[in-house]
Amino acid sequence: MARSTVHVCSQCGFQSAKWHGQCPECSEWNTLVEERLPTAAAARRAGARRGGDGEDARRDGPAAQPRPLGEVGAAPVARLSTGIGELDRVLGGGLVPGALVLLGGSPGIGKSTLTNMVLGYLQQSGHRTLYVSGEESAEQVRLRAERLVLAPPQPAQVRSISSARAVSPALQVPILAETDLEVVLDTLATHAPQVCVIDSVQTLRVAELSSAPGSVGQVREVATRIMELAKAQGIAVILVGHVTKEGALAGPRVLEHLVDCVLQFEGERERPYRELRALKNRFGSTNEAGLFEMRHGGLVEVLDASARFVAEATRAPGSVVLAAMEGSRPLLVEVQALVAPSELEQPRRVVSGLDRNRLALVLAILGRHGGDDFRSRPPSDVFVNVVGGVRVDEPGCDLAVALAVASASRGVPIRGAAQGAPRACFGELGLTGELRWVGHPERRLQEAAKHGLGEVIGPPGSGDQALEVKSLREAIAAALPARERPQTAPIQAAAMA
Ligand code: TYD
Ligand code: MG
Repeated sequence: MARSTVHVCSQCGFQSAKWHGQCPECSEWNTLVEERLPTAAAARRAGARRGGDGEDARRDGPAAQPRPLGEVGAAPVARLSTGIGELDRVLGGGLVPGALVLLGGSPGIGKSTLTNMVLGYLQQSGHRTLYVSGEESAEQVRLRAERLVLAPPQPAQVRSISSARAVSPALQVPILAETDLEVVLDTLATHAPQVCVIDSVQTLRVAELSSAPGSVGQVREVATRIMELAKAQGIAVILVGHVTKEGALAGPRVLEHLVDCVLQFEGERERPYRELRALKNRFGSTNEAGLFEMRHGGLVEVLDASARFVAEATRAPGSVVLAAMEGSRPLLVEVQALVAPSELEQPRRVVSGLDRNRLALVLAILGRHGGDDFRSRPPSDVFVNVVGGVRVDEPGCDLAVALAVASASRGVPIRGAAQGAPRACFGELGLTGELRWVGHPERRLQEAAKHGLGEVIGPPGSGDQALEVKSLREAIAAALPARERPQTAPIQAAAMA
C-alpha cells in the first residue's frame, strides 16, 4: 500500500517517511509531526499556483476578482443562546453556527459538566445536539447528567419540551461514545446537530496517521476535518481540550489559530469558584470573564460575586478590597497579604490570583517609594492572595496589592476598615511611585457604592466620588494610620531574630 502520510519538521520543513526524534536536517528535537500527504489532484493544483515553467503550469480558470470591503455584504452573526448567561456573555452573545470553540482547562475543573449543561439547555429549547465522548463511557456521562439540575425552561420554550417533560433535558442529549474520527464525522453528517461537543479533541484519532491520539499531528488533523464539516453544515462545535501542567493547551496549542474562539476554564480544584475567560474570540471581545460555582447539581452562575467577596472580607491587617474590572464588568474582590520574617536566603514571594512579576514590581515600588518604613527592612517572605480563587489580570490591581502588603507589614488594618465596611481602592503604580489612571473609574466607583463601600482611593481623574491621590506615598498616608512604633516593633524584632 502506498504511504499516505509524511513526517514534516515544524522548524525547517524537512520531510521524511519515517519519524525521527531529532530532525536530520536542522537537528532540532521532537519537531517532526505526522501529516497526511496531499492527494494527487491537490498537489497538481498547488504546483500550478506556484507558476513554475511552461504552458502546463498555467491555470485554466479565470482569476478571482477582489472587491472593495465596502461592497462586501456582512450579514449579522446569528447566535444560539447556550442557556447559561455567563457563558453567552464570554462568547460575545452565544454560539455562532459553523464556528469552532476550543474549551481548555485542567482535568477535573468542570469542562464536561459545563458542556453537558449547555447541551441540556439547548436540547430543552428545542435544538438538535450531539455529545461525542472519547474520554468517558456513555454510562459515565449518564451518571454525571443525572446529577445536573437545570433551571426550568423559560415560558417561551415550554411548548417544545412539553411532550418529554418527565425526563431531565440533560438526559435527552444524544451521546456517541467514540474515538474514531471517521465514525464521528459520519454521525455528524447524518445526525446533523446544530450544536456538537467533542470531549475531548485529544482522544479522537485519525486511522491514517500512525501517531498516538493527542499528538500534534493527530489533534491538528482531527480539528481540521471537524472544522471543514462544521463550516459546510453550519454546526456550532465546542472542542474540549486538556491543559498540561505548564498551563498550555496540550496539543491544542496548535489549534488556537484554527478555531474561532478559545475559552479557558480556570479555578482551584479545592475551591468552588470557576472562572471562564476568552483568550481569543473572532465574534466578540476577549475581555469578558464569567464566574461560576461548582455545586452538587452542577455549575451555578455567580451573579453577586462582589456582594459575596465584600461580605467575606476580613478587614484585618493585610486585607484590602480591590475595585477591579473583569472585562466590561466591575468586580469587588479582597486582596490579602501576609508579610513574615524569612529564614531563607532568597525570601519567598508566593502569589495566587495575580501575575508573579506584577507582585515583584509592586514590592520594588513599595520599597523605593513607600516611605522609610519599607526601605531597609529585613528580608521577609511575602504572600499575596486574591480571595475566592479569582484571577485579577489588570494593571488596576497594583495599588490594592501595595496597600495590602503595607497594611500587613505594619500590622494595622486599612483606616476606616474597623468601623464599618472595608474601603476599596484601585489604580496602577508607575515606576516612579505615581498612581496612574486605569479604565472605567466610574463603574468601579458605582460598584463600590452599591455595596456600601463609601470611600474609594483612586488615581487622579477618577471623579469626584473617589479620594484621588497622586502617589503611592499619598495613598499609604490616606489608607493607613500614622505609624505607631509599638505596633510594628514585634514584627521588626521577630524579623531581626
Ligand atoms: P468534570 O466536568 O468531569 O471535569 P473535567 O471534564 O474538566 O475533567 O467535573 C469534575 C468535578 O466536578 C468532579 O470532581 C466532580 C465535580 N462535580 C460537582 O461537584 N458537582 C456536579 O454536579 C458535577 C457533575 C461534578
Ligand atoms: Mg471531562
